[in-house]
Amino acid sequence: MVLPIVHYNDPLLRKKGVPVATHDAALRRLADNMVDTMHEAAGIGLAAQQIGQALLLCVVDLRDTEAEFDWVLDGAHPPLEIIMPMVITNPVVAAVPEPATKYEEGCLSFPGIRGEVMRPDEITVKYQDEQGTPHVLHCNGLFARCIQHEADHINGVLFIDRMDKSVLAVIDPELKALKKATRAAARKET
Ligand code: NI
Repeated sequence: MVLPIVHYNDPLLRKKGVPVATHDAALRRLADNMVDTMHEAAGIGLAAQQIGQALLLCVVDLRDTEAEFDWVLDGAHPPLEIIMPMVITNPVVAAVPEPATKYEEGCLSFPGIRGEVMRPDEITVKYQDEQGTPHVLHCNGLFARCIQHEADHINGVLFIDRMDKSVLAVIDPELKALKKATRAAARKET
């Protein structure tokens, strides 16, 4: 089921997620709906905050990207077709600080807005899947970037927080317009 996506500057996007304590059927249903929502919006990642839930939960699917990246999951190299879409709960990300790269990111909560963000190129993330099974994933490139972007979301951090002032200055009018539209939509609902 496709869910409505929360847009900037809804306060929900700033809420730090609570850990997923129970990996039950309800959690798996929520994760399935998030995957449907991400696919419908043609995104490569989606965090629980973006569908209105402050949880340490996100989904990722990089099968449709042309970017090159590498990964080791639990000491093996399973094909993307098997591991994606990926449900990530309670992630703990450790980044290798160098090298960091700049890349133009988008975000489903900021429709049409893109900007360069500097991030470390390589990470190790410990997380639990939708069954609660723990995993260790080592990855780089867009895979690492996407997980860092989503891990930020579930801690209430947005990609604009990581942009240089010069990048922010360029998109500032779009951010203001989006803020206004989100506020107007919220007023209509209440
Ligand atoms: Ni995002």
